[in-house]
Amino acid sequence: MSRKLPHPIPYQGSKRKLAPMIHSVLPKTIETFYEPFAGSAAMTLYAAHHMLAKRFVIGDCLEAIIELWRSIIESPEETSSRYAAVWKGQCDDNPDYFNIVRERYNSHHDAVDLLYLICRCVKNAVRFNSSGRFTQSADKRRLGMAPDKMADAILGASILLRGKTELRKGDWLLTSDDARPADLVYMDPPYLGTTIGRDKRYHQQLEQDRLILGLEAMNRRCIRFALSYDGMTGDKEYGPPLPDHLGMTRLLLHAGRSSQATLQGKADETIESLYLSQNLKAPEKLALEQPKSLQQELAL
Ligand SMILES: C[S@@+](CC[C@H](N)C(=O)[O-])C[C@H]1O[C@@H](n2cnc3c(N)ncnc32)[C@H](O)[C@@H]1O
Repeated sequence: MSRKLPHPIPYQGSKRKLAPMIHSVLPKTIETFYEPFAGSAAMTLYAAHHMLAKRFVIGDCLEAIIELWRSIIESPEETSSRYAAVWKGQCDDNPDYFNIVRERYNSHHDAVDLLYLICRCVKNAVRFNSSGRFTQSADKRRLGMAPDKMADAILGASILLRGKTELRKGDWLLTSDDARPADLVYMDPPYLGTTIGRDKRYHQQLEQDRLILGLEAMNRRCIRFALSYDGMTGDKEYGPPLPDHLGMTRLLLHAGRSSQATLQGKADETIESLYLSQNLKAPEKLALEQPKSLQQELAL
């Protein structure tokens, strides 16, 4: 527990900052913690760091990110040295270097190439076109996480997750279909506001009807779940509310100023919803603030 909380994949939309607040409302005894929309698996890392569950299941439909997790957890040294080699390649001042790696990733789907692209692309925001090709461009002002920092984060994540984590590729309904009542499924699907329209943020989109059918099925199986779904920044809202018949409690998490608002010099605060399933005990206060002590924990 004394080690820093590692976060090797700096994914835009990561729940790293909200993890302490989400963790504070989860049950304290969990057999297996499922994260079927894992991305950078921020909640799994936080839960493992705080020994919240005995086992973990990390799932995502983006197969290369699951391969990246396999590589991080099972071969941390090799993954770090491969990352360092790709990262150092950009120091030769070849303005096309990022695009060369991107092209190579689009042909071979190598997990370490994906890690470099995530670290180096604009706002760490992956973007894919309809044929699944990575399309985001390089952020010209940054080089991406330095290899020594990455090596620490990779090793820390491997220590936390090795021997107790199962990795699953595919749709969330399949990767969480063996969850049982003693488990907990934490879901962070792409918000509807980020999935429709031309600019498709994630590798695959999720329609609300399908999400609702999946949640109904979980209720029938008495599965405990928590769902990050919609949110708002200033007066901009993401995602329509979810129906009452699901019996969930909606909590409002005050996440602070969004990095986008900060960049644009705005004071807008981001508020995210967290829905708790009907069989989880909701806290009395439905609007949660990030306590100072938790903010310090993130800065570890
Ligand atoms: C909002 S991100 C999750 C971010 C994550 N909470 C974190 O801390 O990094 C959503 C993730 O869900 C994945 N995804 C989208 N549709 C999916 C589906 N139908 N089944 C499984 N994963 C899906 C995307 O590839 C993406 O990695």
